[in-house]
Amino acid sequence: MCGIVGYVGPRDCSDVLIEALTKLEYRGYDSAGIAVFENGRIKVAKSKGRLTDLVEKMNKEGKPKGHAGIGHTRWATHGEPSDVNSHPHSGRRVTIVHNGIIENYKEIKQFLIDNDRTEFLSDTDTEVVAQLLDFYYDGDPVRCIRRVLHEIRGSFALGIVFADRPETVYAVRCESPLIVGQGKGEVFIASDVPAIIKYTKDYYLLDHKEIAVLRNGTVQFCSLHGRIIEKELLTADWDEDSAEKGGYPHFMIKEIHEQPTAVKTTITPRIENGLPDLSECGITPETLRGFKNIFIVACGTAMHAGMVGKYVIEKLARVSVTVDIASEFRYRDPLIDENDLVIIISQSGETADSKAVLSLVKQRNAKTLAVVNVKGSSIAREADMVIYTHAGPEIAVASTKAYMVQLSVMYLLAFEMAFAKGRISEEECRRLTLELVRVPDIIDQTIKRIENVCRYVSTKLITADSLLYIGRGLDYALSMEGSLKLKEISYIHSESYAAGELKHGTISLITEGMPVIAVATQNSLFEKTLSNIKEVKARGAMTIVICDQKADIDFDVANYIVRIPRISEMLMPMIATVPMQLLAYYTSVNKGNDVDKPRNLAKSVTVE
Ligand code: AGP
Repeated sequence: MCGIVGYVGPRDCSDVLIEALTKLEYRGYDSAGIAVFENGRIKVAKSKGRLTDLVEKMNKEGKPKGHAGIGHTRWATHGEPSDVNSHPHSGRRVTIVHNGIIENYKEIKQFLIDNDRTEFLSDTDTEVVAQLLDFYYDGDPVRCIRRVLHEIRGSFALGIVFADRPETVYAVRCESPLIVGQGKGEVFIASDVPAIIKYTKDYYLLDHKEIAVLRNGTVQFCSLHGRIIEKELLTADWDEDSAEKGGYPHFMIKEIHEQPTAVKTTITPRIENGLPDLSECGITPETLRGFKNIFIVACGTAMHAGMVGKYVIEKLARVSVTVDIASEFRYRDPLIDENDLVIIISQSGETADSKAVLSLVKQRNAKTLAVVNVKGSSIAREADMVIYTHAGPEIAVASTKAYMVQLSVMYLLAFEMAFAKGRISEEECRRLTLELVRVPDIIDQTIKRIENVCRYVSTKLITADSLLYIGRGLDYALSMEGSLKLKEISYIHSESYAAGELKHGTISLITEGMPVIAVATQNSLFEKTLSNIKEVKARGAMTIVICDQKADIDFDVANYIVRIPRISEMLMPMIATVPMQLLAYYTSVNKGNDVDKPRNLAKSVTVE
């Protein structure tokens, strides 16, 4: 979604803003712009398209020169992507950038029109806020922002400059993320840490409806009621290199290769004497014994990690687990009470629908556990318990390493819960934990062993219009993620299907040469899946089978076979994920797509 940046300090402000926005490109955008104080006056440059289009425009028309300003990458919600709808937007004395949605912008616009403010240039909700700020501005910026905060509804973060307050940037957030970076004699605002990590690792998290005033290289915070507040300065625990491609052509492939380390870093601190120990996350065996039902609620890839979690928790701990899509769950008046545990999985910790579910289930007194990658994010802060995944920054829109670490947390939880409930012995828990500890090395070997195979097989997919991913049991749960990965970056329509369900309708889609990718890693279901592969092959499908090294399968059944190391079938998803990611990645590369920034998508979906 949109990215916000701001700067006050000695450097060339336009350069800093563009550089910082580049680091937020992964969030997805379709236009960009900046506003900088040049000789005491606000100068705006904005353009539809990529940041390079904006830079080209500034090279032709003159780059704003100054030391304080705000910048923005826009992912269109209200009004099409165009120069005029790009941010910043201005009232007479106020210029703003905005991430999020103003729900009551129509009423506010009407109010402004009724009060003779009719100069709206764009279709955006943002311009309405700029005009409202201007309407109430009486020379006291903070009072004006506070007043407007009482009137606007929605989830948003704003960067604001007032024409008569040169060299000063104001910022405020309500739901949408915003941080304030503190460097030596310079200050920044940004939607996310990667934007500022080149300049400083130190930052403040702006809380709900807090206002930041950036001036003279320092920042002051105040509450909605105008009270000055002190905030804790945090330090990012990763460096600039983590947010760079490090020699890889795309973030996605870099992040695939980072998975062994990410899993190791996530599980190691949660294992004590060979057994899972989630006590540092506020989770004890007593906590895990106390729930009647478990709900896992999330969106997209994170929800798919929950699907694997369901199979594993139910199998080992014998507790009923319901997995739900957050955007559905929040509106279906779910049957939840204080005896239930709701697990929200989210890489960003800022996904609007997942956040809404968290508030809903808290109102119903359910216990909440967040599995989140971004430290200090809204979901992490609001849940009763949090297990941080330690994947480091995930920049590619298509989630890979975040999914893998989410899986590893699902296993740790399942093992500890099953042991706490007496469903597995200590010996079995140790055996499973040890096997999990060995997984990062096997992921590493798998990537090395099959990357070229997947690169080759992907060349067989690029002309397809549509394909199916099939599997049974955990392989089915996994194929949902394989299918999503492929479609989001290759733009090939793909559907995941329970292999045994094909005969009930979907098999009629199979035509000569249609690719069917079968995930067949579950020994206990192998023969059944094999029959389904034969069924589609007999009807002309081009079959690609992901199976383990020892699987008994021939080229008369599979056109292409991707063999991966065999470990216990319960843990196979962590290995079988790798070929699915690589197939998606290389198909996208071979099609010449923008792998890290697929069309129409945003990394963090902070609006509904
Ligand atoms: C998948 O590759 C996507 N990035 C997407 O499905 C993502 O998992 C979803 O939007 C949820 O995001 P979150 O984990 O940040 O909540």
